[in-house]
Amino acid sequence: EKGTYPHFMLKEIDEQPIVMRNIIREYQNEKGELKLEKNIRKAMQKADRIYIIAAGTSYHAGLVGKEFLEKLSNIPVEVHVASEFSYNMPLLSEKPLFIFISQSGETADSRAVLVKVKELGHPALTLTNVPGSTLSREADYTLPLHAGPEIAVASTKAYTAQIAVLAVLAVDTARVKGIKLDFDPLQELAIVANAMEIITNQKEELEQLARDYFATTRNAFFIGRSTDYHVAQEAALKLKEISYIQAEGFAGGELKHGTIALIEDGTPVIALTTQENVNYSIRGNVQEVVARGANALIISSKGLEQDEDAFVLPAVHELLTPLVSVIPMQLLAYYAALHRDCDVDKPRNLAKSVTVE
Ligand code: M6R
Repeated sequence: EKGTYPHFMLKEIDEQPIVMRNIIREYQNEKGELKLEKNIRKAMQKADRIYIIAAGTSYHAGLVGKEFLEKLSNIPVEVHVASEFSYNMPLLSEKPLFIFISQSGETADSRAVLVKVKELGHPALTLTNVPGSTLSREADYTLPLHAGPEIAVASTKAYTAQIAVLAVLAVDTARVKGIKLDFDPLQELAIVANAMEIITNQKEELEQLARDYFATTRNAFFIGRSTDYHVAQEAALKLKEISYIQAEGFAGGELKHGTIALIEDGTPVIALTTQENVNYSIRGNVQEVVARGANALIISSKGLEQDEDAFVLPAVHELLTPLVSVIPMQLLAYYAALHRDCDVDKPRNLAKSVTVE
């Protein structure tokens, strides 16, 4: 039930710190160490390449997960949109491990790939919020998201849960492989939970920004580089699916290869900067669009901020920034939809789980 909340989406956005704490609790043993099924550990150790298969928001979580798995546990990862993979399968490695990411565990596009993967005899692990769902039953292993039921069509807390569980999986694999890491993932997730709380307490500010930038616009662009680019893609999906504003997420450096032609006087461009190595270059992209009339809104991480930034995120571990940077994006989308009188929890033409091809 949504209790005192006007919409499930807002409730689910607010639940994200709790979900992080659930994950911390569920994935640690009495000694405070990471806890994962032995068979999953074995499968991760055996894999020479991971293929992440997902759709929509879960695909966007997979893009972030690839970075954890490659940077921390040193396994090459490919991330594929399920509906494409079915028809255009890439050349597989010798010992592939398939990871399906699905909030509902019922997405038909992902299931079609799972059926093929099982026919080929490859191992499959499903990350899902619904243990017992089709994708969980038909895979060899399951990692639960512990996010609690997600009712709003727009996925919010499942996305952050997916990213957190992928971080746990990557760190655990690194440990098992004897790779030394200089941070404690559970401690870092606790810092993330607190940071999420700080942001969800800034609703009035974000509501005002949504009013200023999205009240009447027909389109909007989200830009970022590196990890921030993945979050920009998720931000655009969130905004378009519930407010019907045409929105796209772009890699900052790609703008000049075509998209910048779309920038007109007043076009909203939301730029995200949480990574030190791209902070300078993404700000350069902002200047380029502002010179063409864009109405830019910069969201940065504490430590990288400048006076012009409209919203500053609390600092968290650099790899985990998507867990906090997505929260203002979710709230901006929520308020944009609300101000435009859209049906926030049940946007037109969409279903919560897509069980047909
Ligand atoms: O249940 P799944 O995670 O497999 O669903 C995948 C997509 O259908 C889903 O993430 C969709 O993109 C959401 N409406 C996004 O908010």
